[in-house]
Amino acid sequence: DTVYLNGSFLPLEQATIPVLDRGFIFGDGVYEVIPVYSAQPFRLDEHLGRLALSLEAIRIHNPLDMEAWRNVVIKLINANRHLDDQSLYIQVTRGVAPRDQAFPNPEVAPTVLLMSMPLVTPSPALIESGVSAITALDIRWQRCNIKAISLLANVLLRQEAVDHDVAETLMLRDGYLTEGSSSNIFVVKDGVLLAPPKNQHMLPGITYDVVLELAQAHDLPHRIAPVSEAQLRSADEIWLTSSTKEVLAVVMLDGVAVNDGKPGPIFKRMYALYQAFKN
Ligand code: PDD
Repeated sequence: DTVYLNGSFLPLEQATIPVLDRGFIFGDGVYEVIPVYSAQPFRLDEHLGRLALSLEAIRIHNPLDMEAWRNVVIKLINANRHLDDQSLYIQVTRGVAPRDQAFPNPEVAPTVLLMSMPLVTPSPALIESGVSAITALDIRWQRCNIKAISLLANVLLRQEAVDHDVAETLMLRDGYLTEGSSSNIFVVKDGVLLAPPKNQHMLPGITYDVVLELAQAHDLPHRIAPVSEAQLRSADEIWLTSSTKEVLAVVMLDGVAVNDGKPGPIFKRMYALYQAFKN
């Protein structure tokens, strides 16, 4: 596979990063994951916009302008045309400098990496059956709106899910749902779709926005409001959303069936709307 590293396109095997890269030493960087369907990046400008916000939040100057980002993305997609659908990964770190927590002074060039992986969306069987999830305390920091590469808490929380043989860990902070370890979470109660409000405790998901836009466009009752643990546990439906999982029903939470333990009618409607929209 071909990757882009600091201005060059080269085979993945030949792409190397110095040991002193602050991404490696401190997890000092940000990233994006963009789904690519039939060589078309989905919601590219929104992903690049969020990347710009993440960079600004950690005070790295955006190394490329929007036009340059778009060009690199298109070139990389075309260099990896052998892949069917692609999951395009972008990472920017603060660059290479002697190890010291403070920013390098003078500033150094950020490290820019783009790579493409096969996009594996949930199978029809999984859409039909739904997935199980567990809950855990949200042990992350207070800047979860930044798509930071320092993901140790997410890694540990996601491994908890794997250890329980389930698909995702849903996080609770102060008695309220924040998000999944690598997804946003919606619930449905009495026919109304509920979405936790964007704040510093969750990543503002691109898929989250698409789902709310579709709900708006198709007159699906919806409300942006905090979701308490009690509301989560008594939900008629629970969904998770992400660029790679799209929209997926959670049918079992902490070993307890969500409603009748099957993906619900509103999920099915949104799944169909999403599939129609992305194409
Ligand atoms: N994760 N919340 C977290 C913590 C995430 O890591 C992600 C995405 C989302 C969903 O955001 P979006 O809809 O923009 O993909 C929410 C990506 C896919 C990942 O880390 O692989």
